[in-house]
Parts: sequence; structure tokens; C-alpha cells
Amino acid sequence: MVERLSLRQRPRRNRKSEAIRASCRETSFGPQHFVYPLFVHDGDTDVPIGSMPGCARLGKRGLLAEVERAVAVGVGMVALFPAIPEDHKDPTGRESFNPSGLVPRTVAALKERWPQLVVVTDVALDPYSSDGHDGIVAPDGRILNDETVEVLCKQAVAQARAGADIVAPSDMMDGRIGAIRDALDREGFTEVSILAYTAKYASAFYGPFREALDSAPRHGDKKTYQMDPANVREALREVALDEAEGADWVMVKPAGPYLDVIARVRDATSLPVAAYQVSGEYAMLNAAIERGWLDERRCVLESLGAIRRAGADLILTYFARRAAAWLAGEK
Ligand code: PBG
Repeated sequence: MVERLSLRQRPRRNRKSEAIRASCRETSFGPQHFVYPLFVHDGDTDVPIGSMPGCARLGKRGLLAEVERAVAVGVGMVALFPAIPEDHKDPTGRESFNPSGLVPRTVAALKERWPQLVVVTDVALDPYSSDGHDGIVAPDGRILNDETVEVLCKQAVAQARAGADIVAPSDMMDGRIGAIRDALDREGFTEVSILAYTAKYASAFYGPFREALDSAPRHGDKKTYQMDPANVREALREVALDEAEGADWVMVKPAGPYLDVIARVRDATSLPVAAYQVSGEYAMLNAAIERGWLDERRCVLESLGAIRRAGADLILTYFARRAAAWLAGEK
């Protein structure tokens, strides 16, 4: 006979069946917590992205079909990222505020088909910049802050005018949240929200995204505007600023390798917190899934659950449609 340990506390009692486990589960999530990032281009076909299996630069028809499938499983928010042809790029990214450019046309098409769909647009110059930077590059290589913010304001207003519900500045210039808020309000777009990329790190995990959009910096890196991965107090400083400037959400990016930052940001603000599970996180998981080294459904849902547990309300994830389908009971 085994001698019984004299334990009053046996945490395993709370894990003894699925019903018991479900009754004390601390975090949960569903499609209402997902934003689905989608790549669009001005072509008729969908062009698969090598390092992001299951993702493509979508043409108009492909986009509508993909959104249809996402909406069917309960995804209610999408974020658009445009691939702009090289001959539409210039040093100041003027195409970014062209009222009949790709993004405004795409927003209008989506809102016409699904008036209730929440459409998030990216505010930054990199897809439009011949230098591949989020801001305007001076002859000596510096990224010009205030000159860039002026263009970002025009870009945000053009997106709002096309029907965007939420504009999401991903550029990391100083003061852009306040300036964009003022510009939107001045033009009468007081109802358009701002999802601020508040703590966006100079991360190596954006590689596949830059391949998808052909938007990598032509020279230099993004370290004078995106944050140093070593820092977390600095994230709280950015939160305080974006909050004061009128952000409706604050975002941490990347998500998985930065769960501590998400948790600290969660504690530092009463605003809703978003986190971006970026292209490199998606690529890593898929690489192992394709080799049969990880179970797709379980590792994806676990990665999303971890981001929720850290404190994110909203998750931008390329898995949004598939995860929503699994949560809806699809095999
Ligand atoms: C650029 C932007 C990037 C991403 C979203 N917006 C890349 C970058 O900063 O170079 C990355 C998203 C991803 O990797 O999934 N404004």
C-alpha cells in the first residue's frame, strides 16, 4: 500500500475532467477577438506568399471570397495591407493619400458588400515609399518626423473618407496619434477610431511581411523609429503618450515573443489592448506544422490563448479565419 501524502491542497482536483477544467478556465476567446490582416494588390489573380503558407496577395475577387469565408465563421474585423507597384512609389509616398488608390477602393468595395464589417487601414508610408521606410528619408539618411506626420494625416483622412472604421498608424513617428486625431476631427471624422501601434519593436519577425509587400527598407534599418527589443519601460512611455493623444486602442507588436510587454501594458492603461501576431510568428508555426513537427490546431490555438492570457483584448493574426472555424467546431 502506498503511503498517502498528507496534502490538504491537491490542485489536480480542479483538473480532473473537462467539465471541471472548463468551469475554472481563466481566459477564453472567440472570433470577436480577432482582426484578420489581408494583403491586397491591383491584379486579377491571387499571388501566394512563399514564407506565409495560406496567405496571398489577393486580387479583388480573391479578397471578396476570402472575406466571405471569414465572415461566415464570425470574423468581423479585417486589416488591409496593400502591395503597391514600384512605379507608384516615390520618396514622399504620395500614392498613400490618393483618394482613388488601391486602399480607398478596396475599403469602399468591402463596405459596400458588408456594411457591418469593421475595416482597419494601415497608416504608414512603407508600401508607398521608394526607400521602403515608414517615413520620409532625408538626403543624409535620417527619417524626418514632422514632415512624415503631415503625410500620414492626409493618408488617414483619405482612408476615413473611403469608409475605414479604424485607422491604424504603424509608423512609430512621434506625435502622430494626436496629429491624426486632429486631422480626422477637422474633416468631420470624429467617429473614426485610432488603433495605435504603440509599442512596435524593431523586430526581425517582420521579414515575411516585407517579402509579401516587397516593402523592405532599401537601405538602413528601422531602429531610429521602432523600439529596441530590449526595452519595456519605454513601452509604458509610449502608452502614456498615445493615450494622452487620443488613441482608442494601444497595440504591442510582435505578440508571442513580447508577452511580458503585453502584460505590463495591460496593467498600465484602461484602454483596450491589441497585440499583433506577426508574419514571422506565423511563418515559424507553419514551418513546423508543414513538417509534421507540431499539431496545427493545438499549437495555433495555444499561441492565441497565450496572447489573450497575457492581457490582449484583440489579436491581429493571419490565423484568424482558420482559428475562428475551429472554434466554431469545424474539424
Ligand atoms: C509597416 C508594417 C510592418 C508590419 C505591419 N506594418 C512591417 C515593418 O514595420 O517593417 C509587420 C506585420 C507582420 O510582420 O506581420 N508599417
